[in-house]
Amino acid sequence: EITSVVSTHVLETPDFPSEGVLFRDFTPLFCDGSAFARVVDLIAEQVTAKGGVDLVAGIEARGFLLCAAIGYKLGAGVVPIRKAGKLPAPTVTESYALEYAEATIEIGPHAVNKGDRVLLVDDVLATGGTMVAAATLMRKLGAEVVDSWVLLEIEALGGAKAMQAADLTFNTAMTV
Ligand code: PRP
Ligand code: MG
Repeated sequence: EITSVVSTHVLETPDFPSEGVLFRDFTPLFCDGSAFARVVDLIAEQVTAKGGVDLVAGIEARGFLLCAAIGYKLGAGVVPIRKAGKLPAPTVTESYALEYAEATIEIGPHAVNKGDRVLLVDDVLATGGTMVAAATLMRKLGAEVVDSWVLLEIEALGGAKAMQAADLTFNTAMTV
């Protein structure tokens, strides 16, 4: 059911942000109250069935929308993982290569406690660089990344392999 809800609420734009890239945006899902609630409820159900988490960490920008809603539903805390330069020092940072750029993400040191069970969420898993970097941040702070969720996996970009190499599991609503 989650696959049909998500796959009918994605906007596809060719050649953005650069030639040859098909940009997939889930604004239509976030804008549709009942579809968004359904997706959040279904993800939360599965997380609960696997034992729950203490924190839901969302990756800037669209991961924030998901993590806040999923965290609220689970009664868990919510942690924003920011793009570089948004947080005051001290921060813990991690750099990685993107599908079409290079980036750094960071987190404040007090957001996570040692031993916290953390769920990572983002909109898209492409190369996996972003998600693996987010997991590295969490591990640097002593948290345990117990699972992760995305709305879309772009299979050809190898994210599943990158996640496996980093000893991370993930769930996706749909795969292209
Ligand atoms: C996109 C997407 C994921 C990431 C996936 O974000 O939202 O976060 O790329 O790519 P990867 O698996 O190859 O790392 P982007 O960095 O473009 O920024 P945004 O979310 O702020 O739009
Ligand atoms: Mg992103």
